[in-house]
This record gives sequence, C-alpha cells and structure tokens, in this order.
Amino acid sequence: MPTIALKGSDVQWHCADDDTIMRSALRAGFGFPYECNVGSCGNCRFDLLEGDIEELRGDAPGLSARDRDRGRRLGCQARPLGDCVVKLRLMPQYESRFPPVRQSAVLAGISDITHDIREFRFKLDQPVRFLAGQYALLGIPGVEGARAYSMANTENDTCEWHFQIRRVPNGAATGALFDGLAIGERISVDGPYGMAYFRENSERDIICLAGGSGLSPMVSITRAASASPRFAGRRIDFIYGGRTSRDICGEDILSQLPGFGSNIHYHPVVSSGDEQGWSGHRGFAHEVAASLFSDRLARCEVYFAGPPLMGQAIQKMLVDLGVPSDQVHFDQFY
Ligand code: FES
Repeated sequence: MPTIALKGSDVQWHCADDDTIMRSALRAGFGFPYECNVGSCGNCRFDLLEGDIEELRGDAPGLSARDRDRGRRLGCQARPLGDCVVKLRLMPQYESRFPPVRQSAVLAGISDITHDIREFRFKLDQPVRFLAGQYALLGIPGVEGARAYSMANTENDTCEWHFQIRRVPNGAATGALFDGLAIGERISVDGPYGMAYFRENSERDIICLAGGSGLSPMVSITRAASASPRFAGRRIDFIYGGRTSRDICGEDILSQLPGFGSNIHYHPVVSSGDEQGWSGHRGFAHEVAASLFSDRLARCEVYFAGPPLMGQAIQKMLVDLGVPSDQVHFDQFY
C-alpha cells in the first residue's frame, strides 16, 4: 500500500491501491482541503514532488493546463502508483468529524417525489455517522466513476442513508439509478464528505435555498435543526425553486416536522413566466430570498444546494447583501 509523505513535516499516511490521495488523507484524520470530490472545484490541488499517480478523470475541469505543467494534481482524482511526496497546506477545518468509510449498501426502498426526483433508500453494511447536509460518493454498477449525492435523512441506528436525486437528462448515473437498479441490488458507498453541514452550535436563524437534487441536503439540515434542542424557538425559511409548478417539492416532507408553519416556513418559487394558476412566488430562488429577507440575511446561517447557475446567482446575491462568508455553507458539486 503506497505511503504518502507531506514535504517538510513528519506527516504521512497510507493510501490503498484503489483510493485517492485526498480521500485517504481524510480517512487518516488529516485536513486535506476539498469541496466537490469529483474533479470540478480545484480546491484539492497539491504539488506532486515525487512519485507517480494515475488520474481517475483525465479531463477534470478543476485543473488547468498551467497547473498541470507546474506539477499540480487534484487530490480527489489522484490514485498513487507507488509512494509519493506531496506539498500542500493541511487545514484543520477540513478534518472529518466522522472519517469517510468505503463499503457496500443495498437498495432498500424507492419513492417518487416529483416527475423527475426520487428518493433512494440504501442500507449500509456497517453503521457510519454523518452530519446533516453531508454527501457520499455512490458507485453504481455499470457506471464509470463515482457520483456525489447528499443524504436527505439524519444519522440513525438503522444504517440507512437516503438520497433525493433528480434525474439528469441523458445522465449515465441517474439513468442507471432510475431505470436499472432494483430493490435488493448493491452499490458502493464512500462517505461522509462535505463542509456544508448543519452548524448546531450557531444561535442564528437559518435560511435554506434549494433546487433540483439540492432538496436532499436542505431537507437533512432542516430535519436536524427541528430535532435539535439548541434550535428551539428559532426560525428556518426554506426556499425551493423550480422551473414550473410540477418541479416544486419538499413541503409535504417538511410539514411532518415539529414547528412547521410556526418556526419552519416553506417558500416555493417558479421561474417560468407562463405558469397559469400558480399562487406562490415567481422568479428565481435568490431573487425571492433577497426580496423577502434582505434585512435578515446577514444575521442568518445560509445553506444552499442546487444546479451550478443557481449556486452562482445565490453566491453573488449573498455577497451583494453583505452576508459574512463564514455564515454561508455550500458544497458545489451539482
Ligand atoms: Fe477535488 Fe473539487 S476538484 S475536491
């Protein structure tokens, strides 16, 4: 098993032959910076000083040609072919409260949420704890590479991890999940990962913004907050955006939580201009958040998850309204 050594320190860890340099560091308890885990964000870049690696994804957008020429690689995509020496700055905030574990899981249940979102319920072989809002990498039979999806439930004793997933048109992974995987079949699961988890010790109100599969982590965070004695008496505003009314979902899930309607408030938004008979908000989630909460946002913890364009619009809105970055939580891998 290769050993990865950090240049200029005593730090080293082992990386299984089929693991990556970043994920193995997190499993060993080190704070290797990351975000998406799928080669997109570039947060896991490191300098490869000695040794050889294989890249899981050769075209990963998180690494520029210039980075590559300088000897930089992506920790989430780098599988060592032998011992390596690397250079990067470990950061304590990336140390996992519950280190990620690789295992297999069986599909135990499926239910429809909308015309293109389903909840898939997997039962893991062994219990692993996670924080509300975190995600896992799912390895689906017949699909090359793992995909990141967030859990919708909260940690539990039944080994169940639930995922609310939107079907991507022509998407290989969601196609296999929606059309191929049957109850009782197995996938691989690696997790938990992610920094956009519920900050239980914060005393601020919460605003959640979601679209598409971003429903899942926002539901998890709202479930955890509603069950937390520390959160009693505070307010959660949950904004869900879709193109048309048939994309809108989440209210029936949230309405089962204690405090729905008094502490937990749901705000659906549709962006299509020709939606007849729609009585909810119109526009985009970030616009509705800005118009409803411009005076409160800077005093809230803000969580969001959804498609990239939605995430970019939300980030810009939050910067424009002066929301401190340490109160904003997202893992942009959608
Ligand atoms: Fe590796 Fe995003 S590119 S964590």
